[in-house]
Amino acid sequence: METKKAAIIYQSKRGTTQKYAAEIAFYLKKKGIESKVTSVQKFNSNDIAAVDYIFFGCWTSGLFFILQHPDKEWIQFAKTLSQNLTAKTALFTTYKIRTGSMFRNMKKYLQGKTHEAKLQLQSRNGELTEFNKNLIDLFVD
Ligand SMILES: Cc1cc2nc3c(=O)[nH]c(=O)nc-3n(C[C@H](O)[C@H](O)[C@H](O)COP(=O)(O)O)c2cc1C
Repeated sequence: METKKAAIIYQSKRGTTQKYAAEIAFYLKKKGIESKVTSVQKFNSNDIAAVDYIFFGCWTSGLFFILQHPDKEWIQFAKTLSQNLTAKTALFTTYKIRTGSMFRNMKKYLQGKTHEAKLQLQSRNGELTEFNKNLIDLFVD
């Protein structure tokens, strides 16, 4: 069987979401899935050509209790995605208080470009919990 591939694309201001992206890649590697981790700034459309999974990540921006949304730089990145991407899609974010409308808004910007995200991962400190790992197991099966 061919090795499965994942693209993990993140936006991070202070490094927490970058760490989370790396943790996801590390876990996928243990499961035999090869990942390429890229920031939205360095993203190139070749990064998502011929991958089985795409993980889109962004830090949670908002008013802490309400109105969570991806950062405008991430929105800009989502707008540049033109393909009808066939890879299975996952979302991830880091936050402090609550993610609220974050995933709903990320999905809004990806609508019509990717398959609807079947996995949503969140973390306060960028660590991948056992619960997160179990969700990934179900997602990649
Ligand atoms: C301007 C600003 C707005 C934020 N809004 C929220 C919010 O609405 N909800 C929340 O839980 N965390 C919020 N946070 C916390 C960040 O989402 C959190 O610290 C995140 O892990 C930062 O990721 P990064 O280290 O990858 O930049 C906010 C942080 C900043 C700087």
